[in-house]
Amino acid sequence: MELVEKIDDQGNTLIFKRYQGRTFSKNMRGNVGDQLKQVASLSCRPHDVLLCTFPKSGTHWVYNMARMIQTKTLRYSGTPVIIEQENIKVVDETSSPRMFHTHLPFPFIPKAAMEGQMKIIYVLRNPKDVAYSYYMFLSRLENSSYIGSFDHYQKVFLSEETTASGGSWFTHTKEWYTGMLTNQSLKILSLRFEDLKKNLYQNILQIAEFLGVDHDETFLRNVERAVSFENLKEKHATILGETERYKSLGDNGRLPIYRKGIVGEWKNVFTVAQNETFDAVYREKMGDVGLNLEVEYE
Ligand code: A3P
Repeated sequence: MELVEKIDDQGNTLIFKRYQGRTFSKNMRGNVGDQLKQVASLSCRPHDVLLCTFPKSGTHWVYNMARMIQTKTLRYSGTPVIIEQENIKVVDETSSPRMFHTHLPFPFIPKAAMEGQMKIIYVLRNPKDVAYSYYMFLSRLENSSYIGSFDHYQKVFLSEETTASGGSWFTHTKEWYTGMLTNQSLKILSLRFEDLKKNLYQNILQIAEFLGVDHDETFLRNVERAVSFENLKEKHATILGETERYKSLGDNGRLPIYRKGIVGEWKNVFTVAQNETFDAVYREKMGDVGLNLEVEYE
């Protein structure tokens, strides 16, 4: 099958599934081609929402705030189900109002979302912080898809053979950016991790307006408090953070999500050489995109 295990001469191990020249997470369900077809055909009900992120971009944070707004409760919703990792028939049986999540690049999202029948929330984060957060996350898992040093992980992150879903951060971001520009029918709200840190309440308000949910300020201020890093971390440490799905990764399936939650940690951890390498690859791969990440990126 498509499962690939690569071990380099330093003993670093990378495991992923390969399909049509792209790398997908080893957690992707079954045969990648069949699963992608199932994902594409996911049916849509009114008010469905699809949360789309590259891993480590603030998925849990946005999922929980958007879910509170969607359901008009302050309940912690834990870890979202990643549709490409699940039986789509079971996913489709979820009761409304539904919020799905995917790490897939734009070309693979459900047709209904591409055609504007399903609202999309997309989150972008500075790739340098994403890279380090991802490395720390993978290092803490049992049965991880990556075992090794950060120096090597950075090389993996900068290449197209990554542990993520469908390609590198660069490919993922470019495809999303192009998808947004060229598909006028999309119903999409695009958020940035760094902006959430700066203006959380404004972002919460934007989500409420985008979802078309009645909102009074008191409730939205309560959401703002409920999704603070400390509050989410505390809830995640309870049984609410456990999942059946990720039991094999340790800690009763509780993913090591709430680590630091800051902007610009890369400045403390990248060596000068690592930073220069990263910048060179960024310029080479993103130079033609015209995506202004400069403020948050530096
Ligand atoms: P760090 O590893 O840099 O701390 P995802 O949910 O996509 O896996 O993203 C995880 C990252 O989002 C982690 O980053 C985590 O700490 C951060 N995060 C989660 N909730 C947060 C919050 N309420 N405020 C700030 N950052 C948060």
